[in-house]
Amino acid sequence: MDYSNLISDKMLGVKASAIREIFKVAGKPDVISFAGGLPAPESFPVDAIKKICNDILDTEPVTALQYGISEGYAPLKQQILDRMREKEQIGTDNDDIIIVSGSQQGADLTAKVLLNEGDGVICEEPSFIGCLNTFRTYNAKLYGVPMTDEGMDLNVLEETLKNNKNIKLIYTIPTFQNPSGITSSLKTRKGMLELAQKYNVAILEDNPYGELRFSGEKIPTIKSMDTTGNVIYLGSFSKVFSPGLRLAYLIMDKGVMEKMVVGKQATDVHTNVFSQMIVSRYLKEYDIDASIENSRQIYKHRCELMLSCMDTYFPKNVSYTRPEGGIFIWVTLPEGVDSGKLMLEAVKRKVAFVPGNAFMTDIEAPSNCFRLNYSTMSDEKIEAGIKILGELLAETL
Ligand SMILES: Cc1ncc(COP(=O)(O)O)c(C=O)c1O
Repeated sequence: MDYSNLISDKMLGVKASAIREIFKVAGKPDVISFAGGLPAPESFPVDAIKKICNDILDTEPVTALQYGISEGYAPLKQQILDRMREKEQIGTDNDDIIIVSGSQQGADLTAKVLLNEGDGVICEEPSFIGCLNTFRTYNAKLYGVPMTDEGMDLNVLEETLKNNKNIKLIYTIPTFQNPSGITSSLKTRKGMLELAQKYNVAILEDNPYGELRFSGEKIPTIKSMDTTGNVIYLGSFSKVFSPGLRLAYLIMDKGVMEKMVVGKQATDVHTNVFSQMIVSRYLKEYDIDASIENSRQIYKHRCELMLSCMDTYFPKNVSYTRPEGGIFIWVTLPEGVDSGKLMLEAVKRKVAFVPGNAFMTDIEAPSNCFRLNYSTMSDEKIEAGIKILGELLAETL
């Protein structure tokens, strides 16, 4: 059947993710892929999960296998609220929590609840392609605000808010941003919050990497400074436990919670109860902080190794971020160099990365930037892959 006349307007504008196309190449065993964004597989607590699964099926099989409630498994909700209050000073009496099936769904629900067709969403430029595509599927208008070393450019942010009355949401990844690795400064965070309050818009603070700091000083989340309920906080277990379990959470003002719940019911009724019980038991019976510390050490080592190889092999007119956590480095080439073309050449030499245009509001415009990921690569592959890229850059520039 020919579906071309049946596809909805909102989906017509959304293209298959460039990253997915790159993954087809990057997934080949002989390619060194810096294109992904997966957590290190050795960080998964496999033995503990095996034991927990057996215990759950022995002791609470019906709870695990029966329908659950849309807001989430009650013990897990409380554990997350306690943990977030302790670690991030998040959560007021006016806040509530809903467990969602990955932060991707958290962004989707936020868009579903807040956005009409044509409403504006401000995002960092560059930003996470998955959530940009979520906003695109609601026919939202994206307004990119360039990133500085300290996060969103506050002057451009204010100008954008002042000039576009359709804006309802600011989407930000303030800590170890995907794709840039940049962490927004305290000044930027406070500035974003003040502007959101001044212009009466919501902020979606997406923080899947926040606990993966391996150097520098911790900076408070925007949500922890929010006394007015403007911030919807999105946390995830994907990068600190397992992405396959699809577990994340939204902590937000009670004023928006009811619609989130109805929206979730219409999407998938509730998040997988078995997954929620696994994480709940893990939080109760094991030391997740020790496990996260292990991940931090893995990423610290890989990040430092990749940066030192880049210092050695990359030409001096190439600049790059030096992340203090998370899993990405952002590379900037001299003006006019098209990282998309460079990627095609790199793939011929069996190295993959993601060109910068994939993370922009205008994905058609060539970009002189690209994203490197270091979280899953062996030392040997990091060294070999960066050397090959360095040679390619030296020939190209
Ligand atoms: C910034 C950001 N937000 C959301 C997601 C989606 O994560 P989840 O697995 O929780 O859906 C990712 C995944 O890479 C991400 O980098």
